[in-house]
Parts: sequence; structure tokens; C-alpha cells
Amino acid sequence: KQKLLLDVDTGIDDALGILLAANDKDTELLGITTVNGNVSLQQATTNTLNVLALIEHSCPVVKGAETPLLRPPHFEKSVHGENGLGGALKDVEPSTLPSPGFAPDFMIEQARRYPGEVTFVMTGPLTNLALAVKKCPDLPQLLQKVVYMGGAAFTYGNITPASEYNMYVDPEAARIILQAGFPSLTQIGLDVTRQALLTNAHIDSLQTSNVKHFVKTSTAHYIKRYEQRNGVAACALHDPLAVAYAIRPDLCETQLLYTDIETSSRLCDGQTICDLQDRLQEKPNVHIALKVDVDAFISYFLTTIQHHLH
Ligand code: BDR
Ligand code: CA
Repeated sequence: KQKLLLDVDTGIDDALGILLAANDKDTELLGITTVNGNVSLQQATTNTLNVLALIEHSCPVVKGAETPLLRPPHFEKSVHGENGLGGALKDVEPSTLPSPGFAPDFMIEQARRYPGEVTFVMTGPLTNLALAVKKCPDLPQLLQKVVYMGGAAFTYGNITPASEYNMYVDPEAARIILQAGFPSLTQIGLDVTRQALLTNAHIDSLQTSNVKHFVKTSTAHYIKRYEQRNGVAACALHDPLAVAYAIRPDLCETQLLYTDIETSSRLCDGQTICDLQDRLQEKPNVHIALKVDVDAFISYFLTTIQHHLH
């Protein structure tokens, strides 16, 4: 089984990514670390515990950073709702507690326990991993691969005209990750996630009732927002695509490019710059996903999130 650690700021699509990682039969989910992002650290942790309880899955959930490295948090309630799950599971008190410890330490511990075997999937701002790299500079060499949802090579932003949300919230952390020398670092950015759309027809086709109910209620507002902006009743499965790619690399085509991020610009903070023509003559550091097999992804997603009892 592929050993996976998931780092989340549970938000609606993070929750769908958790369903995928926890349900995939060829994946061993070593644990989930939480970070501030779409919602506060506390809320992201509560949401994570509640999503795991919904599918009766148990794994360590470890809390991480309460704020980005240098900046204040930037919650996204207009997209993800007051509780981060579009109101789903709103009044549920988690039935389990988070595990003790601090996410960056847990990351280092898992990497040292299984050298060369662990994949990290990052679906929130990159603060926890940046703290882990600062504390343990040889961490990149201990991991099999890292996949993050964030950034964009060709397309426009989704929080500012230029920038994608996860990169915008903690660009200093992202920069640490881009420069840390990971042997395999993949960006699942808006170039591909904008194509990975979940529609109401997909949701209606789900058979497992608790999962269907959760997906329907959590995405209702998210789909409306997307429709207002884009004229299509659907929502982008940003985070689930990152999880899916970590498990099924055949789902996206990537190009290895030198990539950096803007950290001090009035209009472009958080913008990822992928050097498509090798103008900077730097060593390529990120596999940038540029194409996705949408049908194969959607079918893998819909099938897998329904196997919820192991
Ligand atoms: C990313 O930002 C968040 O709103 C989503 O959960 C996803 O991780 C998309 O830009
Ligand atoms: Ca997220």
C-alpha cells in the first residue's frame, strides 16, 4: 500500500479529498495534519475529525500552524461557508480528539519512520511543511514525493487576479518548499483543477447514502458560487485532484519546470511563476500538471468515495 500523509485546511474540497484518501483501498493513510487556511486551525481540525467519523475511518489527526509564517490568516467563509463545510456537519461535536503533538513534528516522525516510502499531499497553505523543512533540512530526501494543490502556470488566479488561494495565503512558506530540493515535487494547480468539475448529476449518481448526503449538502453553496462566477452549475475538485494524482499519477500529465513564487508585489503576491521557456536557466524543481484526464478522474473519484467501509 502507498503510505500517504494528508495536510488540510478543511474546507469543502479538502473534505472530499479526505474521503478519497481514506477510502482508497491501495492507500494507507498514516495521518492527517491540519493548518489554518479556508477556516481557523480549530475549525479545520473539527471538520477533519467529523469527516473521518462520517465514514468511520480512524487515523491520527494532528494540529499544526495557527497562522501563516509571516502573515495573518485569511479565511474564506464566502466560498466555504461559516463552518468551512458549507454548513454540513455544522452542529456536530467531534466524537474523537485530535492526537497530541504538532503537525510539523508528526510529518518529520512519519518520514523518519518510513524513509523513502511516504507521499505527502498538501491541500492547504504550505505552512506546516515549511516549518518541518526548517526544523529538519533533510526531510525532502526522506520522502518519496510531495504533491501540493496550488498555484497556476498559464491560468489566472482565484483569490486575486494573479494568484491561487493556497499560495497567496502563505507565499513565504511556499517559497521554502519550492527551494527545499524535494526530489519529487508536483504542483496540481488551477491549470488542471479548473477542469475537474463535479456536477449535480454526478452527485445524484452516488449510491452510498451518508456520503451522498454529505457531498450534496456541503457542495450546494459552493456550486452556486461557482455558477454565479462561471455560468456553469458545478464545482472544481481542486483538492481531490491532488489526492487522486498522488495515488494515480496516470491521471495528469506534467512538465518539469523551474518554478518560483512572488512574495513582495502589490498585485502579484502568491503568483507562481513557471519558467516555461527556461529564461532563468535554473534547475527545474517542480512537476507542473498541465493536462488532466477528466473522465478518468471523475469516475475514480465517484467510485472510490463510496467504498467507505473497509
Ligand atoms: C484551494 O483553495 C481552497 O479554497 C481550496 O480548498 C483549495 O485547496 C483552491 O485554490
Ligand atoms: Ca484546501
